[in-house]
Amino acid sequence: MTITARRHEAGLLWASRPSLALLLHAARFAPPIARIPRLGWIIRDPMLCREILNEHRHFTLLGEGGVGHLWAQVLGDYVTELFDGPGHLRLRTKARDLFTTKTSADLVAEAFDAPLDALTARLRVGGTVDVADTSRVLVGRMLATLLGLPRDRPDDEFRAIFAEGERLAAVALHTAASTVLAPHAVAEARGIVERMTAGVPAGYRDAPPGTLLGRCRELGLGVEVTRGLAGLLLVAGTETAATAMTRAVALLHDHRLVDALLADPDRIDDVVREVLRVVTPAPVIGRHVSADVEIGRHLLKAGEQVMLLTYAANNAAGGFDPNRAYVPETRQLWFGGGRHLCLGAALAKAEMAALLRALLRAGRPWRVVHRRPARRVLIPRYESLQITLTGRP
Ligand code: HEM
Repeated sequence: MTITARRHEAGLLWASRPSLALLLHAARFAPPIARIPRLGWIIRDPMLCREILNEHRHFTLLGEGGVGHLWAQVLGDYVTELFDGPGHLRLRTKARDLFTTKTSADLVAEAFDAPLDALTARLRVGGTVDVADTSRVLVGRMLATLLGLPRDRPDDEFRAIFAEGERLAAVALHTAASTVLAPHAVAEARGIVERMTAGVPAGYRDAPPGTLLGRCRELGLGVEVTRGLAGLLLVAGTETAATAMTRAVALLHDHRLVDALLADPDRIDDVVREVLRVVTPAPVIGRHVSADVEIGRHLLKAGEQVMLLTYAANNAAGGFDPNRAYVPETRQLWFGGGRHLCLGAALAKAEMAALLRALLRAGRPWRVVHRRPARRVLIPRYESLQITLTGRP
């Protein structure tokens, strides 16, 4: 990684949460697994992270420290059945085909094509575009598409949808030491889920089979589960996707690799994979130890909490290099692993590739003219990343 790129990435982490930046920095010098007072076990070794993600008999995300514990408080007890164990397995088996490469490509075309054409045209005539804002609008449009909300509305309404997703995720911002939510946080999160998924029951009833809600109906998920799933998509697929899209644009610029991609656009998939590794949008994954287990020669006791520092684990392989050979240790740890492997992985990759393709269609390299990291957010991201094309229109 160039020094400039490293400085920008470090700045993003720091602005989002100084405590996260310090933890991830310290992890570079820490042993593969260590026990920290108040936080529990922290793991930065990619193989140990994977071992834990695959170890369903000894780790759960339902107990304190896991994301399921948070969402059960917001969505209700039925989440307990859905998030882990046999109920989760049934749901994942049914939901397996919700986001295939094909359905993701269709969703992206439906939600992104028009605004991305406008973006390309604006750049071509010499305009400046804020890619961070564009990504938030695009992701807002995607959520509207997924949740069966109308899409013929002004961009500000998509920004508002993104902001709702971010606020919902922010409920988790203060949960590093404990995932027990304060009553006001539960009330706020419930209000957001109610508002954002209000259209789901009607969509579940009436949406055509080709839509996400229509497919949920065809799969027989039931309206309550579909509404819970919609809430999950809102939390899981908002900031993660938007930050990955924006940081792809920044990283290519900061590493002076835009020309190379313009010359060989078939490398987009490699670029997307390498961006995801370096950026690791969900930098930490939490788990609860449900039964005593030995990991990395340490005894982890039932009731303890585990933080998988996936950002540190993925970045141990080195700086951003789209020519990097496949890293077997990390595989795709940026999407988690085991039974909870990201359900929207294909969609996220399609969203990133679509933005890059639209920029390449403008025909000339882009450069970053201004950037500003977002402060106090769960997922490190740019508040603003303005780009323009180099050379004459
Ligand atoms: C670059 C973007 C994304 C990244 C890096 C990412 C990362 C992750 C990770 C690490 C997990 C596992 C969490 C855990 O084990 O506790 C996860 C789960 C999940 N993600 Fe994503 N995600 C992204 C985008 C999306 C999108 C776009 C959607 C859907 C719209 C989505 C839906 C989900 C769902 C539903 C789960 C829960 C799966 C389960 O528990 O079975 N994600 N994601």
